[in-house]
Amino acid sequence: MDWGLKNRLSQIIKPQDNRALMLAVDHGYFLGPTEKLENPKKVIAPLLKYCDSLMVTRGIQRTCVPATTNTPMVLRVSGGSSIIGEDLSQEEITVSIQDAIRLNASALAMSIFVGSKYEHQTIVNLGKLVSKAEKYGIPVLAVTAVGKELGKDARYLSLACRIAAEQGAHIVKTYYCENFEKVVQSCPVPIIVAGGKKIPERDALQLTYNSIKGGAVGVDMGRNIWQSEHPVEMIKAVRTIVHGNSTVDQAYAYYKKLVSEGPKNKPNQNKPNQNKPNTTKK
Ligand code: 5RP
Repeated sequence: MDWGLKNRLSQIIKPQDNRALMLAVDHGYFLGPTEKLENPKKVIAPLLKYCDSLMVTRGIQRTCVPATTNTPMVLRVSGGSSIIGEDLSQEEITVSIQDAIRLNASALAMSIFVGSKYEHQTIVNLGKLVSKAEKYGIPVLAVTAVGKELGKDARYLSLACRIAAEQGAHIVKTYYCENFEKVVQSCPVPIIVAGGKKIPERDALQLTYNSIKGGAVGVDMGRNIWQSEHPVEMIKAVRTIVHGNSTVDQAYAYYKKLVSEGPKNKPNQNKPNQNKPNTTKK
C-alpha cells in the first residue's frame, strides 16, 4: 500500500485502536431535505469535533463544512437517483477524481446494489473508481445497499461485502445482522456498520456495541445521531463504545447523564467533563 493511501486510511480508521467513528450526513443526495437534516450546516457544526471522519457530498462539504476543519472528509461520489425516481440503484459516479482531490477527500464513497437491476453498472463503477482513486492514493469506501427483495441477512450481506472487497474497496460499509461475524470473516477489508433508520438511543448503542463485538471497526452512523433529540450527547455516547470499550449500559448511562446535565447541543457549550470516559478524539 502506498504511503498516501495508508495515511488517508489511518485518518479514518484510527491506528491507536483500529476503530472508526464516521458521521454520515450524505442522505440528501437521494432523500433531499430529510427530517432533521433540513439545515446540514446546523447539524454538522456541533458534531464535527466528535467524529473521526465525516461522510458528505461535495455540495454539502463546500457549503456547510468549514474549510478550516481537521476532520477528514469521506466524499460520496455516486448518485443519480432520488427517492421518488424509478430505481434507486441506478447510480453513476458523479464526481471527478480531480474535484475529490480539490476537496482534499480522505476517502471516496459509492454504493453498489448487489441483487438489484443495476447491479452490473454499480459493481463495474466500483472497480473503475478504485483504479482511478488508487492512482492518487485515495481509499474507496463501498456502501453495500440491500436490494428491494433482499433482507439484511448474513448470506446476502457476505455476498455484497465480498464482491465490494474483490473489486478493491478498502473499507466496506454494511448493515449489522444475525451471524454478523460470518460477514466480517469472509470480507478481507475492514467493515463499518451503517446505523439505519432512527431507533431508540439505547438500541442504537446496542447496535454499535454488537457491531464492534462482531468484528466491525466501527460505525458510519447518521440518523441515529442527528435525528436524536440530543445529537451531541448521542455521538459522545457512541464514541465511548467505539473508542472507549464501554458496555451498552455504561454508554447509555453516560448519554442520560449528559442529557440530564442540560442542553449541550449548542457549539461551544461542550466543555470538557472530568468524569467522562477517556474517548477524546485527539
Ligand atoms: C446512504 C448512506 C448513509 O450514509 C448510511 O445509510 C448511514 O446513515 P444511517 O446511519 O442514517 O443509515 O450511505 O446510502
